Amino acid sequence: MSFAPSSPPSVSQQQRAPSTPSTARVMPSNVTNTPTAPQGNSAIPNGPAAAAAPSAVTTSTTNAPNPPATEIRGRERQGSFGGSTRAKVLKPFNTANIKILLLENVNETAVRALRDQGYQVETHTKALAEDVLIEKIKDVHCVGIRSKTKLTKKVLDAAEKLGVIGCFCIGTNQVDLEHAASKGIAVFNSPFSNSRSVAELVIAEIVLLSRQLGDRNNEMHQGIWSKVSANCYEIRGKTLGIVGYGHIGSQLSVLAESMGMRVYFHDVVPLMPLGTSKQVGSLDELLEISDFVTLHVPETEDTKNMIGEHELNKMKQGSFLINASRGTVVQIPALAKALRSGHIGGAAVDVFPKEPAANGKFFESELIGCPNTLLTPHIGGSTEEAQSMIGVEVSQALIKFINNGTSIGAVNFPEVDLRAIRDEENSIRLCYTHANVPGVLLRITNILSDHNVDKQFSDSKGKIAYLMADISDVTPEQIQDIYRRVSETPTNIVTRVLY
Ligand SMILES: NC(=O)c1ccc[n+]([C@@H]2O[C@H](COP(=O)([O-])OP(=O)(O)OC[C@H]3O[C@@H](n4cnc5c(N)ncnc54)[C@H](O)[C@@H]3O)[C@@H](O)[C@H]2O)c1
Repeated sequence: MSFAPSSPPSVSQQQRAPSTPSTARVMPSNVTNTPTAPQGNSAIPNGPAAAAAPSAVTTSTTNAPNPPATEIRGRERQGSFGGSTRAKVLKPFNTANIKILLLENVNETAVRALRDQGYQVETHTKALAEDVLIEKIKDVHCVGIRSKTKLTKKVLDAAEKLGVIGCFCIGTNQVDLEHAASKGIAVFNSPFSNSRSVAELVIAEIVLLSRQLGDRNNEMHQGIWSKVSANCYEIRGKTLGIVGYGHIGSQLSVLAESMGMRVYFHDVVPLMPLGTSKQVGSLDELLEISDFVTLHVPETEDTKNMIGEHELNKMKQGSFLINASRGTVVQIPALAKALRSGHIGGAAVDVFPKEPAANGKFFESELIGCPNTLLTPHIGGSTEEAQSMIGVEVSQALIKFINNGTSIGAVNFPEVDLRAIRDEENSIRLCYTHANVPGVLLRITNILSDHNVDKQFSDSKGKIAYLMADISDVTPEQIQDIYRRVSETPTNIVTRVLY
C-alpha cells in the first residue's frame, strides 16, 4: 500500500525513493498497512506503550484509537543509566512489526538479541535458493546472512522494505554494497570479533613449527617412529616479528610475551607498543631480526605480494613464516622454494591466493608436501566463541540502526551517530538518507528553521549522504509536517523519524 502525499503517512514509517532519489515515492516500511495501530503489543517485552504511535500522526489508514499523550513519550527506558540523565530508548515503529530474516544458521546470540527487541525473527539454517529469497526478502526490514547468500542487485530490487543488512561474518563481497547504499540500505559486518581466535591459532603454530610437529604427526600416521631433537626448539627467548600490529597483531603480542618471547613489530603507522614489544622502522629490519615472522596485514595494493624471494632471503636461516592474514600477501612459489631449500625452517599458512569455494577435495598448492609446513583451510577465525561474538556485534549494530539511526560501523554507508536523547528531553530524531548533491543541507535547514535543532550531524560516502538531527519541543502536527516535507525533497532516499 502507498500513501498519497495529501494523506501523509505516520512518522513511524520509512519513506523511501525507489531507485533514483529524484523520483521520490512514498512507501510504508512496516509489514502492516495500519502501522500506527497498537498491534502485537504483547510481543514487545517491557514496553506495552511502545507499540503505539503518536496520536497526531495516526493517519486515516488506521482504525486504531489514538493513544493518550503519555504513551507517545512514555517508552521503555534503559535501566543502566541512573537518575534523570537516562538515555531515552527510541523506537521507530511498533517493534513487533519489524520483520527480520536470518539465514545460514546465524548464531543464537543474535536471534535472542533481536527477539528481545520484540522484532519478528524468522530463521533458516541454510542459504535460500534465489527465487525463494526474492519472495522472502520482499516483506522484511532486515536480513541477516553469512557468506553463502548472494544479495545481488536483482535480489535487493525485490526488497520493498529492506533498511539494513547484517553480514554475520567478516567479508561483505556477497552483497552488492553500492546498490544497497543507493537504496538507503546500510550493511554491517563484524571484522574484528575473531581476532582472539586467530591470535591463539598463531601461538599454537609457533610451538608446532618450532617442534616440527606437523611432520612428526604425518610420520606417525604412516607408522613411522622418528624421535628427533635436532632443530627443535623452545619458543621462550625467541624473537617474534609481527607485521601489522592491529587487532590480531596486538593480541598476539601480549600472548607471545606471556610465553617468554621477545616481540618486535612493523606497521605503517606508529603505534603504542603493548608490554615490552618494540616497533621497528622497516619490514626488512623486522625480517632480519626475527626467528618467527607472522603476517597480520589487510589486503591492499601495498600488501599484495609483500613477501617474495627478496623478503624470504632477508629472513634468518631456518626461521619460520606464518600467514593467517590474506592469501595474496605471500608469493607461494617463492615460499615453496625457500622451504624446500631449507632456508625457511617451516611455515604455517591458513590463507591462499585461490581458495576452494566448497569443502571437499579441491585444494591445490605448491606448498603441499613442503617440509615442516602446516596448511589449514582458512580456519584462523573459525571458533564457536568467534561466531558467538559475531552474533552479538552484528545484532547490536542492527538494533542501533533500526532503533536509533546509528550507522557507525556500516561498510557502505556514511557513518553517523548522535549522543543519546536523554530521558527528560522532549526530542525527536530525524534520519535522512539522501543523494549526495549540492544544496541539500540548505533545503533541510529551511525546513527545520522554525524549530530548535539540538544537535545535527551529517556525512557522505560516494553518492549518498546521511543526516541525523535531534529536534526538540515539536508538536505531533509539526512532526508530521517535518516528515512530509523532508521525505518529499527530490534528493530523498529514505526518511525516518524516531521519537
Ligand atoms: N585467517 C583468518 O581466518 C582471519 C580471520 C580474521 C582476520 N584475518 C585477516 O587478518 C588480517 C589482520 O586483521 P586485523 O583484524 O588485525 O586487521 P587490522 O585492520 O586491525 O590491522 C591491520 C594492521 O596492519 C597495518 N598495515 C596495513 N598495511 C600495512 C603494511 N603495508 N605494512 C605493515 N602494516 C600494515 C595497519 O596499519 C593495521 O595496524 C586481515 O587481512 C584480515 O582479513 C584472517
